[in-house]
Amino acid sequence: MISGESKYDVMYKFANNIPLTSSELAIKNSVTSEEWAGFDLFKSLNGADCFHCHNGTLMQVQKFSNNGLDAVFSDLGRGAITNNPNDNGKFKVPTLRNIALSAPYMHDGRFATLDDVIEHYSTGIQHSATIDPLMEFASQGGVQLDSEQRNQLKAFLLTLTDHNFVTNPDFKPLNP
Ligand code: HEC
Repeated sequence: MISGESKYDVMYKFANNIPLTSSELAIKNSVTSEEWAGFDLFKSLNGADCFHCHNGTLMQVQKFSNNGLDAVFSDLGRGAITNNPNDNGKFKVPTLRNIALSAPYMHDGRFATLDDVIEHYSTGIQHSATIDPLMEFASQGGVQLDSEQRNQLKAFLLTLTDHNFVTNPDFKPLNP
């Protein structure tokens, strides 16, 4: 099961000079300036800075990371498996594909909405010994997005929904 027909996929191809089919061109022309601005924020070190961990075709890097959820861990995460204190508070980086459809968010479902997630990365980052150094603005509590930027980032996250994929009859139960 491959989800590769979201609006984001067309934006990605266009941004990387990959030729578009005529139907993809129509999708590209429907991308709003808010969605493009959100894509820029997502990729920018001085923007939302998300791409370090959520990138590539899978929209995730293959690693375990502490994204600043807690200063004190009630769940040690990876550390509970390896017994290595350097792994405490680290969790598998998840894909962001179809993320609008899979609330609640994080390993314990603590965030009910994408707005809550954006709030976390913007101002809610908690420091701890194992925090990922790629959480570049952790010392300031997060990437500090203003309300317009939060809306742009959310608009971008919604482009990751692949409607063809989630309505594909081949993926429905045989006897619903
Ligand atoms: C340093 C790595 C890192 C960076 C940078 C990062 N994330 Fe994450 N992200 C993670 C990890 C690790 C998790 C999973 C945490 C957990 O399971 O508790 C996660 C989880 C998420 C989730 C929840 C996914 C789910 O299925 O529950 C969303 C949404 C998300 N990140 C969006 C973003 C956005 C938007 C940004 C930029 C503002 C961002 N991330 C920046 C590492 C990162």
